Amino acid sequence: MCGIVAVIGSREAAPLLLEGLRQLEYRGYDSAGLATVKSLEGEDVGTLTCKRAKGKLKNLSSLVSNQAAPGHLGIGHTRWATHGKPEECNAHPHRDSSGRIAVVQNGIIENHRALRKELEAAGVIFTSETDTEVIPHLIARELKPFLIRGASASGAVLLEAVQKVSKQLKGAFALAVVWADTPDALVVASRQAPLVIGLGEGEFLCASDTPALVGFTRTILPMEDGEVALLTPLGIELYNAKGTRQQRIPSLLRGGDHLVDKRNFRHFMLKEIHEQPETAELWVERHLPAGLPVESPVALPFDESFYSGIERIQILACGTSRHSAMVGAYLLEQFAGVPTSVFYASEFRYAAPPLAPNTLTIGVTQSGETADTLAALRMEAQRRDEHGDPAFASRQLGVTNRPESSLSRLVPNILDIGAGIEVGVAATKTFLAQMLAFYGLALTFAARRKSRSSDEIRELTEGLRSVPNQLRTLVQTHDELSESLAHRFADTQDVIFLGRGINYPIALEGALKLKEISYIHAEGYPAGEMKHGPIALLDPRVPVISIAMPGVVFEKVLSNAQEAKARDAQLIGVAPEAPGTEIFDALMPLPEVSEWISPLLSVVPMQLLSYHIAAHRGLDVDQPRNLAKSVTVE
Ligand code: G6P
Repeated sequence: MCGIVAVIGSREAAPLLLEGLRQLEYRGYDSAGLATVKSLEGEDVGTLTCKRAKGKLKNLSSLVSNQAAPGHLGIGHTRWATHGKPEECNAHPHRDSSGRIAVVQNGIIENHRALRKELEAAGVIFTSETDTEVIPHLIARELKPFLIRGASASGAVLLEAVQKVSKQLKGAFALAVVWADTPDALVVASRQAPLVIGLGEGEFLCASDTPALVGFTRTILPMEDGEVALLTPLGIELYNAKGTRQQRIPSLLRGGDHLVDKRNFRHFMLKEIHEQPETAELWVERHLPAGLPVESPVALPFDESFYSGIERIQILACGTSRHSAMVGAYLLEQFAGVPTSVFYASEFRYAAPPLAPNTLTIGVTQSGETADTLAALRMEAQRRDEHGDPAFASRQLGVTNRPESSLSRLVPNILDIGAGIEVGVAATKTFLAQMLAFYGLALTFAARRKSRSSDEIRELTEGLRSVPNQLRTLVQTHDELSESLAHRFADTQDVIFLGRGINYPIALEGALKLKEISYIHAEGYPAGEMKHGPIALLDPRVPVISIAMPGVVFEKVLSNAQEAKARDAQLIGVAPEAPGTEIFDALMPLPEVSEWISPLLSVVPMQLLSYHIAAHRGLDVDQPRNLAKSVTVE
């Protein structure tokens, strides 16, 4: 988690750092800070200024506008607290005892306790509870012999010290380091945590993610695992973990990586919900172009070898991505007939099932950076490589909205969901796009395995083509409807979401959305399970939101809803205006579509209702407390 940004160039660093951090605030917003280094004219030695503020970036911005942070070299950080509370003392940058070395870090230093003990025994006094603070002290320790020898400070000296310190650190991290003695050197390092160098005009930048760079340059150089780089006003020196100099050609950022903008919407989340018809339309254009044969009904970027011999699929993901994976697993099993399991990536890492042959492992992560998902994929590839039998060989696919992310450097095949940058911490349009990716895969597997007739394949394909327009109507009507329903939730403390079959993951997603942004306790259940426990919670104060779409479980869901009504719960139905749905106290109507298609529509009222409840309560919808969009720690 956390976002870091760094710059070295010819203009004042602080405004660039603040703008870069603004684009990275989705990675954490517990505190923010920056350090700049100014070269004093006529003297060798620079001045390091450090500013830090608890809370959101705006607090740091007002601090910096009142108290200058001069210099053309600087590092900045926006924090999601892991070690130590969100207090100013724990905000980055952290400095060594002399205050001349400053470090920002994203990740976790796993051996920080042992290192801290060692440093404390040598007399170092720590001023924070963070794991990061060991780094400036370790760098200072490495630089000491140079200084004692009277050697002159240089970027090369700082680089060597950071390389040595990196070797002492365990864990995954990205860091940026400045030293007041070298105002013309910025050192950055990346180990299993994202860091992208930007090559601007007369300046070099470095950031955890590309949105922080696009305002300044589109020429980028993503750092690879274990690399350390020295950036000076003259150029970049890039070294791998063994210290060998690397030469790589920079790439150009794609057009879609634009600066984030709310347009006329009150929040990014609302804008992103409203973008969903367009997301679906783009997906249909790209993947369901006219004229595809029924044996290959979806345009996907894979050749024959990708599919051949796959007997089962396992999907690893976290949070909302796991819910899309559950819809995907339903489609892959029930529509395409491929046995499929879904795992929490964080659980899979330490309790993976015994290896099965001919298995495709799919990692789903909108950011492509979720540490647990990446680690689970890495672990799975490794144990399969070690197995040796070709039938057990690792076959992996990554489903992501960020094809340039760390995920793409880990797995050989990427399915880009192409939803465009999502800023709201609560995922909405990327959830829809992830589900669509699974429709594409399920249709393809069904056609290849002939597990569905041509008519069934055609029917689902045609159904998908209608989704963008259906979404367009839904988003408009449900925006108003949800806003009017939201006031009913003013004093609500618990909400139950019910769904069954393909809509069970949507009930989970509805509950997650509400929890994330409105802080109301919510649970999603398979409707048939309610009588085995959750029904005890029901009384007139507990709304039950029930997804009831015509199909195999329609009548069952209505009976489950009836059971809730008999306990005086307030019943809200997400269902078509069909016979039987009059039992609901309020109806959020959906068009009568095939059950297969329904999750793509039923999720919209969930998102809008959560949004309006949170907005009605005056909460910070886009940056809910304690969360971050990209969780790069385990
Ligand atoms: C965080 C976010 C969630 C997201 C999850 C997985 O917890 O707050 O919204 O679903 O990470 O993120 P990923 O990038 O892997 O999809």
